[in-house]
Amino acid sequence: MAHNNVIVEVEEGIAVVKISRPKALNALNAETLSELAHEVKALEHRSDVAVLILTGEGDKAFVAGADIAEMKDMNPGQAQVFSRLGHAAMAALETCTRPVIAAVNGYALGGGLELALACDFVYASEQAKIGLPEVTLGIFPGFAGTQRLPRLIGKARAKELIFTGRIIDAQTALAWGIVNKVCVHESLMDEAKKTAGQIALNSPFAVRVAKEVVTRGYDRPTEEGEAIEVMAWANLFATSDQKEGMAAFLEKRKPRYRGV
Ligand code: CAA
Repeated sequence: MAHNNVIVEVEEGIAVVKISRPKALNALNAETLSELAHEVKALEHRSDVAVLILTGEGDKAFVAGADIAEMKDMNPGQAQVFSRLGHAAMAALETCTRPVIAAVNGYALGGGLELALACDFVYASEQAKIGLPEVTLGIFPGFAGTQRLPRLIGKARAKELIFTGRIIDAQTALAWGIVNKVCVHESLMDEAKKTAGQIALNSPFAVRVAKEVVTRGYDRPTEEGEAIEVMAWANLFATSDQKEGMAAFLEKRKPRYRGV
């Protein structure tokens, strides 16, 4: 599969995945959504990749939404296929066996915000502009924004963003819990890489299972989530990473994890 709209660069265990359609402010068309899901799945097979950072090409936009030109003349059947494609790309990020940090470097609107919400957490440039303006186009968020945003920030604030189509700045997004950190624009990638690097030092197996347990337990009753945690946690004691991590601590040295 030729990849035209998604650029991947791997360095020191970190894969930077860049949505690259700068002429359309990195808007997500069907081709880009397919490429993204394909690339994320391919990265899961690479033993030299510990963490993904998702960002947008250029200085202006992370992703300015789903591609309006492509959607304009869709009928309901085509729209359903497109929405499912979006959901699949978001799910590829949410279930990725590596942590995914969104580095929001500018506009994250509509499908762009939905993309960031499917990542594990978000760092944003101070220039970021964030919102769900779909209602201004006669639709509403169709890449799971109606589901992920209320779970993240509560129903009332999510409804305010969805119903108004209002665009908020990075500081407001920070206060509302959409982003974890606001960075000076020029240092956004360095900050994201610093955190990715810290994650990469840890046991890949433990980090992977921790992500899975949080994701699987999130929407369940606490007791069910706890049961998932107990089983997954106990199984870590069959890994060499657990033996290595604890031995290294007791021997006062740095661990050498193998991810098994
Ligand atoms: N789809 C397709 N093209 C887009 C786009 C999008 N979402 N966003 C921007 N573009 C294109 C513009 O059409 C323009 O192309 P031309 O140069 O060929 O005219 C180019 O990108 C640059 O955009 P602007 O000239 O508009 O740039 P600006 O600086 O004046 O404004 C902006 C920037 C405020 C982000 C504005 O582009 C904008 O409002 N974009 C649309 C945002 C939006 O509504 N997103 C939601 C889409 S719907 C959705 O995502 C559905 C869903 O949930 C699945």
